[in-house]
Amino acid sequence: MRISQRMTQAVLGGSMVRRMFEEGVRLKTAHGQENVFDFSLGNPDLAPPARFNEVVKTILRDETTRIHGYMNNAGWADVREKMAAYLNKTIGQGLAKPIGPDNVIMTVGAAGAMNTVLKAILDPDSTVIALAPYFMEYNYYVSNHGGQVVAAQTDSAFRPDIGSLVEKINSTTAAVIINSPNNPTGVIYTPEELAAIGAALTENSKKIGHPILLISDEPYRKLAFHGGAVPSVFKAYPYSVVVNSFSKDLSLAGERIGYAAVNPDMPDAGALIGAMVLANRILGFVNAPSLMQKVAVELLEESVDLDIYRRRQDILVTELARLGYELVKPEGTFYLFPKSPIEDDLAFIDILREQLILAVPGTGFGRSGYFRLSLCLNEAMIKASIPGFAKAFAKAKSV
Ligand SMILES: Cc1ncc(COP(=O)(O)O)c(C=O)c1O
Repeated sequence: MRISQRMTQAVLGGSMVRRMFEEGVRLKTAHGQENVFDFSLGNPDLAPPARFNEVVKTILRDETTRIHGYMNNAGWADVREKMAAYLNKTIGQGLAKPIGPDNVIMTVGAAGAMNTVLKAILDPDSTVIALAPYFMEYNYYVSNHGGQVVAAQTDSAFRPDIGSLVEKINSTTAAVIINSPNNPTGVIYTPEELAAIGAALTENSKKIGHPILLISDEPYRKLAFHGGAVPSVFKAYPYSVVVNSFSKDLSLAGERIGYAAVNPDMPDAGALIGAMVLANRILGFVNAPSLMQKVAVELLEESVDLDIYRRRQDILVTELARLGYELVKPEGTFYLFPKSPIEDDLAFIDILREQLILAVPGTGFGRSGYFRLSLCLNEAMIKASIPGFAKAFAKAKSV
């Protein structure tokens, strides 16, 4: 069978992740699941909030509702109404216009939302700037619609570097993607940093003759620790869209439910919304999963037990620092992004694997010399992994 050139390349490019996954399966088979410390997958292991099952049952018991059919491609009207009310309280403060139900499109996760936005705005020669290190799937989401990701760098503490961002802007720039709280670094952008990004985009949009869209990818918004709040992009820049999901904060990753919200202060927001609603349909999603729309909107004020992630993070941050690893303490998410003790992060991943520790090299996020640990495994496993991290550090430093 002939496979398209683009997919052939993509499959080759994805082979590192696949090899790591296969190696993980092999190690678990050989040594037993409980003896392999799998820090590689961002797949939440906590149960959804206790009320989740109740809400599902209540909705299903109500036989007067016809919830299993198609609805408006943007999602159920009552769901978008409730979403808009919630978003006005959380990310819509200080705007000239309120976020209305029409500004909200229910999607197949944040990934579906991102594809919906990108399909609406990208032409074949378009570029999209992402701030490295960034979630590697953006490369696929952008190329799905003919565009290409251009990486701008963040500084040594992973804070946005406006100079690097501006340097990458040219007439092909359609959008900038930011992700706060950030996968893989756990950094949360401050209101001042968002304002600086907004000011740079306003100025450079004028220079290139079209507005650059700011896409804020926020699936970890509720996973902000140590009193940190997550500021909204809407106030910082009118040409902005938020994409979000319930994958991480409600542990519903497999249910594929999320949304996109278009800034109501965006001039001519209706054109973008119209294009996104059509994109949602013709990408084959048609609409977001119906039952999960109804369920998620009843759980907007809830989340998984964040203290569990916070405790895991505290333990590993403290222990790794004690062992000599350098790392920026994450402000949110369930990831850590320590510096590799040796420059070659791919080689260090191999050294960790000898200790049955699975991690993802920073190279895969566009920042070599680091590695990502995902804390989707329990405290006992995290504690049991520490001697392995110690041995790996010693070995790396001795070669
Ligand atoms: C930064 C980031 N964006 C988007 C996604 C996609 O999430 P969803 O399951 O909502 O599609 C993920 C998932 O890991 C992520 O880490």
